[in-house]
Parts: sequence; structure tokens; C-alpha cells
Amino acid sequence: METLSSTVPGPVISSQPLDRAVYDATYKASIDDPDTFWADHARRIDWIVPFKTVRSVNFHYPDVAIEWFADGTLNVSANCIDRHLAERGDQTAILFEPDSPDEAAQAITYRDLHGRVCRFANVLKALGVTRGDRVVLYLPMIPEAAVAMLACARIGAIHSVVFAGFSPDALANRVDDCGAKVVVTADGAPRGGRVTNLKDNVNRALNHAAVDPQVLVVKRTGQQVAWYEGRDHWLHEMEATVPADCPPEEIGAEDPLFILYTSGSTGKPKGVVHTSGGYLVWASITHETVFDYRQGDVFWCTADVGWVTGHSYIVYGPLANGATTLMFEGVPTYPDAGRFWAVCEKHGVNQFYTAPTAIRALMGQGEEIVAKYDLSSLRILGTVGEPINPEAWNWYDRVIGTGRCPIVDTWWQTETGGHLITPIPGQIETKPGSATLPFYGVRPVVLEPSTGALVEGNPAEGVLCIADSWPGQMRTVWGDHQRFMDTYFQQYPGTYFTGDGCRRDEDGYYWITGRVDDVINVSGHRMGTAEVESALVAHEKVAEAAVVGFPHPIKGQGIYAYVTLMQGVEPTDALRKELSDFVRAEIGPIAKPDLIQWAPGLPKTRSGKIMRRILRKIAEDAPGELGDTSTLADPAVVDDLVSHRMNRG
Ligand code: WTA
Repeated sequence: METLSSTVPGPVISSQPLDRAVYDATYKASIDDPDTFWADHARRIDWIVPFKTVRSVNFHYPDVAIEWFADGTLNVSANCIDRHLAERGDQTAILFEPDSPDEAAQAITYRDLHGRVCRFANVLKALGVTRGDRVVLYLPMIPEAAVAMLACARIGAIHSVVFAGFSPDALANRVDDCGAKVVVTADGAPRGGRVTNLKDNVNRALNHAAVDPQVLVVKRTGQQVAWYEGRDHWLHEMEATVPADCPPEEIGAEDPLFILYTSGSTGKPKGVVHTSGGYLVWASITHETVFDYRQGDVFWCTADVGWVTGHSYIVYGPLANGATTLMFEGVPTYPDAGRFWAVCEKHGVNQFYTAPTAIRALMGQGEEIVAKYDLSSLRILGTVGEPINPEAWNWYDRVIGTGRCPIVDTWWQTETGGHLITPIPGQIETKPGSATLPFYGVRPVVLEPSTGALVEGNPAEGVLCIADSWPGQMRTVWGDHQRFMDTYFQQYPGTYFTGDGCRRDEDGYYWITGRVDDVINVSGHRMGTAEVESALVAHEKVAEAAVVGFPHPIKGQGIYAYVTLMQGVEPTDALRKELSDFVRAEIGPIAKPDLIQWAPGLPKTRSGKIMRRILRKIAEDAPGELGDTSTLADPAVVDDLVSHRMNRG
């Protein structure tokens, strides 16, 4: 069986000369006639009923509607498993590397995966899950996470993975928002030699959730857990009672595959909805093309399945392509800072994909630790999640890639489903710090931020929007299509607004400059400043809070919080710690403020709006660049904030 029926011009190995003409011609074809291009490329996946209509897209507010391949049907899990069985049933699909290097790695073949996914799907059915039901996955980075995702896809249930680092409160909000019928978790999650009590977190979350899901528990650590008879079920016990086979359901291309919550500039996290056909085409074509994936390669994406990167490049893209995908339970620094390189050597990793924050952290550990390992299997290096500074890029290139491995700096978002702006190995020459050029079919435009006017020619600078749809695009916000339109299509009519700023240089290369909204990017994780603020003001001693990002040498951005205390509350270091811990408990460790400054007052306009521009400059230690403060209700508050600023260079 032909699994990679790719008609994309064959990837060129890194030692061969660059062939920019291949990219130019392919890109041009994709833009000139998207219907023909995507009709062709969508055949890389197996359809049950082939689609007749390629796309139906309206980007105009307030009638935004996006469909791809809408009259086709398929099953995503059959594409990721069943169609590979005849040719590579005995090939490793998932290579699992546990947290502890002393625990044996596991190689799960496509045939094993088929068996495990079928059983898991039958367990979900036994719990009453049917097509369209939501299943929340709150799991460690263990094979069961991928198995559970694929089991949902097999029966047409919609999964929503919640990162296991999120707190019980954050979990409860997500369980409620999607109305989950089942929550899948594990007894505990080993990470960096410590164990998080995931089942306890679920117990606490469900204590105050509005919905009342069943709980399915994977035994990972064997630790004691508090058990609720009638609600809680052990996976292994249920698996013993269900049939071994579960035929894949026929699913519409536009039926939702998953919901993934992500932070925005306002309000609670949004449930980003991705559908089945277009998403899989996008995950699959980008995985093969951008990583130059070839049969037999071992592909490693170090993200967590709790983020979109894990969805598209640990699970769906690689498995749709019949790849061997490595899943790592641990952290880069356990048992020591050589772990990533030890795993690359141990499993002969060919493509390695990680975040700039990890590169910067490991860079600080020196080169000797890297030199201990044989990294000659590496062929492609990738980065994602935040802009990479040229210094880190060069270190990655020189020390990890020894100058032989093309680096793909992939720009994309939870909303985009997969890469949008990225180098293609063998086709596009790289520049350190630039995500380079748009992937096939992607039409980036640079707009003037205040007017929305198109900035033509090069160089250009402004906000980054996308002028037309691509198959992997999100379709809506779960339960709130209006919010989807308001967030992405209202501000710059007729285009998708990314929330990022960018520069396009004289060669037409894109340089992402970071978010232009109130979202900060901490170690490659998106965090809404409004979320951190509402966690802070939930504390009884806090009257008001304003949160901004500030440049951080490792994390990219750190979290800087200005806090006004209730009348009479003493500002102490102990209280600083108490507030940090409180935010950690409300959202999770990734939301913990790095710096908290006591603010007797916040800079506000006469109409009461907080002037964040000023707070950002103070947090950046740039008090000389505050700009015009004459519109403030009380300009004196700024002097106090400047003189007590926390981040002095
Ligand atoms: C940022 C992660 C610069 C950007 C896949 C985007 C990047 C946000 C890059 C999405 C990159 C991601 N260069 N910035 N290569 N990749 N970003 O939804 O600000 O977690 O809007 O998706 O990360 O983060 P998200």
C-alpha cells in the first residue's frame, strides 16, 4: 500500500545544493490554483468517500465560514494506523522513552498500536461515549496519551487534551466548557524524578466542576489514589472486558477531531476547534516536507501532547506518514543536562524538534556535555514556539548540528494546525532568526497596525495576517463562533489576524517580532496576561493587578506583575511568595510571576483604562522610553513605579 502518495517534489538531502526553483514553482502553483493543488495533495491521506468540493471559504466578518473537503469522509485513526499495517505493521510507530533512563524504553509497532487503540476505543464505548461526545485527556507523556487521542478519533469522539501541568481549577474550567463525558488520567506522572499526583488533581477538579464525567485511570506509577466507586474506572480492568477489534467509524471531513484550549488577550482560554480532513492533510504534508521525513527515520518532537505541537508533530503528522515518532516523558535536565543528547544517540534520532527556550537553557550548560554523545544520526533540526535569537540558532547549528543539519525555524500557532511560515530543507536558504517563507498555499500579508492598510514591497513591517484559508486552519471556537470571528476576523477585515507582529526583509523573508496583543510567550507557552491578573485579584489581599511580559534570557519572556494591595495589607517578601504560589495553584506553574512589584497605584487614563505600554517599558527597565504620560489621570504613580522597578539591568 502506498502511504506517502506525495506529489510534493521530493525533498532534497541537506548535502545537496539548494533548489529554490522547486519551492518557487510549487508555491506559485499552490497560490495560482489552490483548488487543483489541494485536490492533488489531499490524496496523500485515505478517504472513505472522496471529496468533490475542495474548499468553501468566507473570511468576511460577520459571516466567517471555513470548510475544506467538506463532502468527503475519512477516519483519522485508520489513516494513522490501519493503512500502514500491510506494509509496516511490524515497524515501530511510537518509541517511548520514560522519565527515568533506568526504565526500559518501549517500541510500539503499528500492529501493537492498532490493538491498543481498538481496545481503548471499546472502553470509551463501554463508558457510553459516542460520536461527537467530548473526552478530556489529562495525562503524562506516555503512549496511552496518543492511544487515547486515536481511540477518540476512531469512534468520532472529540478529544481535548489538557496539559498535565495545569492546576485542578484550570482543568475544571476546561471540563465544564466542553461538557466532557469522560476524563482520562493516570494515577501519577513522573517527570524529572518527581511525581505529580494527577488523579488527585482530577478529584479536586471534579469536586467543583459543573459537569459530572466518568473517570478512566491509567496505571502508570502504581501509587495509592483516592477512588470514587461508580465514577472511577481502571483502564486495564476495563480493557480486559471489551472486544479486541473496533472498526473505524466513517467521519465527515468537517467533523471536529479535537478541541485545544489556548490563551488569548481577553477572557478565559478559547477552545480552538480543529476538524478531521483538512487538519490531517496539513499535519501530514508539513511533517513530511518541512522535516524532510523519509521512511525509516526516527522523528523526535520534544513538546508535550498537551500543546498543539504535540498533537500535530508527535501524533497526527508522523503517524499519518507511517513514521516512527519518539515520545519522551521527562525533561531536558534529568538526570542531567545531557538527556536530550543521550536520547538522540540511544534511538538514532534523525529529526529533532524543540523550543528555543530549551536550546538557550542547554546552551548555558556548555559544550562538553554535548560532546559526550554521538549525534551523527541527526539530519534536520527544528525550532518552534517563539522567536529564536541568532545566538541560540548559531549554537544549535554549530554544536548540535555540527553545521551539517538544516535548521527549520517553524512559525505557527494552535489556531493554524501546523507550520505556516518555515524553511523547507533543500529548497529555502535559512537566515538565523527568520522563519523565512510561507509554506505552500499560505498567503501572509503585512498590514499597517492602526489602519489595516496593506504594506506592499520590501522591506515591510507591521502586523501579520493571512489573506486566505489553508486546510489546517481552526474552524471555530468551541461553543462560541462569534468569539472566533471577533478575535481573528474583525480587526483587519477579510484576513485572519495572527496576533503577531513581523518584519519582511528585502529578500521577502519573514521575521516574527512577537505578539502585538496582551498575550505573553513564556518558554514557548502562551499565557494571557488577563488570566494571570484574574488569578491575582482572586487573592483576598489583592485589590488590583496588571501583568506584562519582560525580556528573559532563558524563557524568552518572563511574567511581571504589578500588584496593588488591599488597604492596610503589609507588602512583604513572604506575601510575594504567597501570591506566586497562589497563581501557581490557580493556573499552573507556567503562570507563576517571575517578578512582583508593589504598586500603590496603576497608570490609568482618565477613563480608567490601564496604560500597559507604560508598564511594559518599566518592566523592560526602559524608564527613558515611557512616551507621553500626559493623558494619565495621575502622572505621579509612574514616578513611584519607575523608582521601585524590579528588573534592573
Ligand atoms: C509564537 C505554538 C516566532 C508566536 C506552535 C505565535 C513563534 C505563538 C514561532 C503561537 C516561531 C510560534 N518564531 N514566534 N518559529 N512559533 N511562535 O499557539 O507568537 O502555543 O503566535 O503555538 O507562538 O503559540 P501556540
